[in-house]
Amino acid sequence: MTATYSDLEGRAILVTGGATGIGAAMVEAFARQGAVACFVDMDAAAGGELSARLEESGLSAPFAACDVRRTRDLQAQVLRFSRAHGPISVLVNNAGNDRRHKLADLTEDAFDDIVAVNLRHQVFAAQVVAPMMKKTGGGSIINFASIGWMIGGSEYPVYAAAKASIHGLTRALARDLGRDRVRVNTISPGWVMTDRQRRLWLDDAGRERIAASQALPGELLPEDIAQMALFLGSDASRMCSAQNYIVDGGWA
Ligand SMILES: NC(=O)c1ccc[n+]([C@@H]2O[C@H](COP(=O)([O-])OP(=O)(O)OC[C@H]3O[C@@H](n4cnc5c(N)ncnc54)[C@H](O)[C@@H]3O)[C@@H](O)[C@H]2O)c1
Repeated sequence: MTATYSDLEGRAILVTGGATGIGAAMVEAFARQGAVACFVDMDAAAGGELSARLEESGLSAPFAACDVRRTRDLQAQVLRFSRAHGPISVLVNNAGNDRRHKLADLTEDAFDDIVAVNLRHQVFAAQVVAPMMKKTGGGSIINFASIGWMIGGSEYPVYAAAKASIHGLTRALARDLGRDRVRVNTISPGWVMTDRQRRLWLDDAGRERIAASQALPGELLPEDIAQMALFLGSDASRMCSAQNYIVDGGWA
């Protein structure tokens, strides 16, 4: 079941890391609302395929290959999208990487890289869209965090630190941009069954943990997160800002 948000029709929105996983579900969900669902990803093949599939069915999902750790490239691409499709009115800061790491082996370069892929680009994407949102009377920025650090997730201390910091970013930007009617919120997903999670981390012990920890039975899917992103992107949530929306089946 999907709600229809008529105000999203024709709007240019941007999803980072939109080629696979939760990002791909959000690109498709926004495109199905009639939005111009622009997206970037470093996976050029998967991004090209998704864009072609959606455009073949008459939807609008322009894609550009871009590594969000390269701030100048990211900002230049956002400006290109806005010139071609209109000012970005919804920014979904989704790109991230939960690769495992251990304190004992951590180097400064690895630390910087984990922060770059999980935090830094969210700040600099907001920097480039905020002026266009202000000019057009408002917008919505959605920052992606995680419940991982809240539930004692292990083997990714710097990922956990970066994700824990996201909501501080959200709350500060919500204050700074709120007068211009730019809303800023966090989505914190639970354990979402993307292809990558199934391939790398889900095993029998994981299934048992989900069954024991979620209040609700069943798998959390990328589409469940996309529903929250649609609501926060739409004017239906016009008075929602500075909040953390947890979608986790009742785990955290
Ligand atoms: N899946 C989960 O269980 C879960 C749980 C909590 C939080 N999250 C968060 O949700 C967001 C999406 O997660 P997902 O599970 O869909 O991840 P995913 O790995 O399935 O997809 C992430 C996408 O981002 C892209 N990406 C990664 N690094 C990039 C870079 N440097 N430049 C451009 N693109 C890049 C990848 O190519 C991929 O398409 C992330 O912020 C993640 O931390 C996911």
